[in-house]
Amino acid sequence: MADIKDIDPQNIPRHVAIIMDGNGRWARKKALNRIRGHEEGARSVKEIVTTSREIGISYLTLYAFSEENWGRPRTEIQALMRLLKRYLKQELSEMLDNGIRLNTIGFINKLPNDVRKTLSDVMDKTSRNSDMVLTLALSYGGRQELTDAVKRIAKRVESGDLKAEEITEDIISGFLHTYDMPDPDLLIRTSGEFRISNFLLWQIAYTEIYITPTLWPDFRKSEFLDAILEYQKRERRFGLTGEQVKGVQK
Ligand code: IPE
Ligand code: IPE
Ligand code: MG
Repeated sequence: MADIKDIDPQNIPRHVAIIMDGNGRWARKKALNRIRGHEEGARSVKEIVTTSREIGISYLTLYAFSEENWGRPRTEIQALMRLLKRYLKQELSEMLDNGIRLNTIGFINKLPNDVRKTLSDVMDKTSRNSDMVLTLALSYGGRQELTDAVKRIAKRVESGDLKAEEITEDIISGFLHTYDMPDPDLLIRTSGEFRISNFLLWQIAYTEIYITPTLWPDFRKSEFLDAILEYQKRERRFGLTGEQVKGVQK
């Protein structure tokens, strides 16, 4: 079990993104309603946000609701929206006390009005905080984000503001919902599924991936620190050779 003192403060991932999965299975294992799994998952969110701030992560991005999740039963969607609103209201003072700025990615205009209002209220109130950016991916889909970006870039080309030859990776990144964030250094997925589920497709080109069988409601501080420790053991090569990365001339 990892402890905070095992973590190398010189090698903290700047941006950690998490696919919080397994709430339903957690509830089923306990013969509870799926909603109870989401409620317990909200407790994990609190703990992971606090720990992230404690160890000095600058950007924490949580996949809370995908574009595809709109296909779930209406009662489950309603419960998730209710929980989100409750979480935001409860956590505002914690965010203010800890210098956390709330941000969102995804097609937020699809969310119910009351949730949007609470989100914009918390974003306004935390907008001057600069110690950590907490981004909630809500109604988010990587393909939809890229499709939207391509449309907006094409409009620029159509209007003559941009030439097709001028399109660079940086320009594309700048049209994504994550335009003001660095790419994730570490992507964590709980519940043991080996898939990306339409999360941050463009942004994870060279992200380190960590998958744990632990279900999200059971993913707490020590498990999170395990993931950070594992990240710290990785050698990120970005296509170069190990010798090049270590600075050995060959
Ligand atoms: C993750 O848990 C929460 C959301 C996707 C909103 P799930 O609800 O997907 O839980 P499982 O995968 O069914 O166990
Ligand atoms: C991914 O989980 C989305 C979120 C965690 C919000 P899902 O449960 O929706 O993913 P799949 O369906 O197992 O791929
Ligand atoms: Mg799931």
